[in-house]
Amino acid sequence: MRTVAIGLALAALCSGQEGSQVFISRCIQCHDPNSESHAPMPEALANLSWQDIVKTLETGSMRAIGAQLNAADKMAVARYLGKAGPPVLPEMKGFCPAGAKPAGGGSSWNGWGVDDRNTRFQPAKAAGLTAGQVPKLQLKWAFGFPNAVTAYSQPTVAGGRVYTGSNDGTVYALDAQSGCLYWMYQAKAMVRDAVVIGPGPRAYFGDLESNFYALDANTGNVVWQKKLDNQPFTRVTGTAKLHDGRLYVPIASQEENAGANPQYSCCTFRGNLVVVRPAMAALSGGPTPHRSRSPPGRAAKACSISAHPGRRSGPRPRSI
Ligand code: HEC
Repeated sequence: MRTVAIGLALAALCSGQEGSQVFISRCIQCHDPNSESHAPMPEALANLSWQDIVKTLETGSMRAIGAQLNAADKMAVARYLGKAGPPVLPEMKGFCPAGAKPAGGGSSWNGWGVDDRNTRFQPAKAAGLTAGQVPKLQLKWAFGFPNAVTAYSQPTVAGGRVYTGSNDGTVYALDAQSGCLYWMYQAKAMVRDAVVIGPGPRAYFGDLESNFYALDANTGNVVWQKKLDNQPFTRVTGTAKLHDGRLYVPIASQEENAGANPQYSCCTFRGNLVVVRPAMAALSGGPTPHRSRSPPGRAAKACSISAHPGRRSGPRPRSI
């Protein structure tokens, strides 16, 4: 009974929605061209730092609205609308000792489906254990996600590290043997997909605002970052596939949420697969949301492929 009570209290304190959902449910009724409230449009709010938007919700002109939101939701909507500003990394303990390196080799599980056919089959060699050992497994270490009550990102195991994203946008690299923390990186929004490790080594993943990231997998330093789709209600939930030097990134929608609001003119999203050449993206820097129809072989840096380019809303890629 006590456990249940504590669990619920934690859920109430920590639960944070995605910023875009808070915007749709609490803000868009006024902050939309169809509203007569003359509230500034999201493009105008994008010029404010997210910290200033939190202040507006706590002590400024929006405090009546802010009073109905918990701290996590205020931060989520502010980060969704405002300028990125400095990262908000959670306070963490358990870092690996300085200069520590993961033990090489060992078991691996890289990406979502692992192989090119998405079989999700784990060969004995990659697992590092036999089927007979599975029932005897014991807990070696556990990791608690700060600021979160759910965890979506399937962990990736590569080169002796475990990589995983989280609901507050922090991506963690842990030691597979001991669970100590090598680094963490703050993405702009929730990271639901699995991290993909490629040559370099690089760590690739997307977030729920269609930003895509390439980090140095050893240090967590950003190599490049790109916005892959400018439609405001797109997101990356499916894990990218790295094949033959190209990253294939499925873009999903959450416009069905926005469409529930009568003020929102639905719908402008269409199914989208973006192909990125990691090496070229590193050189080009800024956002490259091409909506060109050129086949991937002729793509300069990144191109999107829509299943039905002529239609306003084509079939959507599967959301994982
Ligand atoms: C009932 C209508 C309404 C709702 C709902 C609403 N706003 Fe506003 N908001 C306004 C209006 C009107 C203004 C312009 C106010 C002004 O200039 O004093 C405004 C201004 C703002 C500003 C700029 C403030 C400044 O000082 O420049 C921010 C930031 C903001 N809103 C954020 C939000 C967020 C975030 C939400 C949802 C969590 C929200 N608002 C919900 C009507 C609304």
